[in-house]
Amino acid sequence: MIPAAGGGTRMRAERPKQYLQVRSRALIEYSLAPFFHAGWIDGVVVVLAPGDEDFIRLPVARHWKLHTTSGGVTRSESVLAGLKRVAELTQGFMGDRGVYALVHDAARPCLTRQDLERLKDEASDEQGGLLAVPVADTLKRGNDDHVIHTVDRRNLWRAQTPQMFRVDLLRLALESCRQRGIEITDEAAAMEAAGYKPLLVPGRESNFKVTYPEDLALAEFWLSRQELER
Ligand code: C5P
Repeated sequence: MIPAAGGGTRMRAERPKQYLQVRSRALIEYSLAPFFHAGWIDGVVVVLAPGDEDFIRLPVARHWKLHTTSGGVTRSESVLAGLKRVAELTQGFMGDRGVYALVHDAARPCLTRQDLERLKDEASDEQGGLLAVPVADTLKRGNDDHVIHTVDRRNLWRAQTPQMFRVDLLRLALESCRQRGIEITDEAAAMEAAGYKPLLVPGRESNFKVTYPEDLALAEFWLSRQELER
């Protein structure tokens, strides 16, 4: 599932960042490609902002695996809407036990097929898992412009997507966070709050989230390289 209902205001662009183009294709088209390609993925749900008119114009909107639904004000509301759609689509299929969802950011265009396969191979259980990279820089906690102290970076990871969880467990976890007023920025945090220990699956730096205008050139670099390697 791709939650794509955010505004992406840090990008300062006139359209949501997933529709910005690199090498004549929108970022979201690249983000979707590994999921369309994987034979073990039955369907892809894209969660759109109400009134989104850009997605339907893309060629990928007609892919046979694709389904859409409308998102909410926060990412977790959008993911919940997507999971509801997944549950409708898989109804009767083991009552949604044993059905997994992979949640992936719309503006993370450089995910490799190999990393997607590894996540599936390693995280197909109740705990689920996520791609992540170990923190390489020294970390400082600051107050305004000054260092308060240095944070021990051992065992610190930067969470990426996809994040893979059983649909029924993730839904319960997200709903529980909503009821308890717990704010989360990824799906793993909801699972953690529910007592699970998602598996950290080492990914790669190239699977970064396009956030600022200068990130587009970096995405172009990685996408050209991946094309050469294919
Ligand atoms: O803003 P940020 O980059 O953290 O968003 C991560 C992902 O969550 C993006 O794909 C964005 O479109 C999605 N999102 C959403 N609904 C929201 C906010 C964010 O689907 N209300």
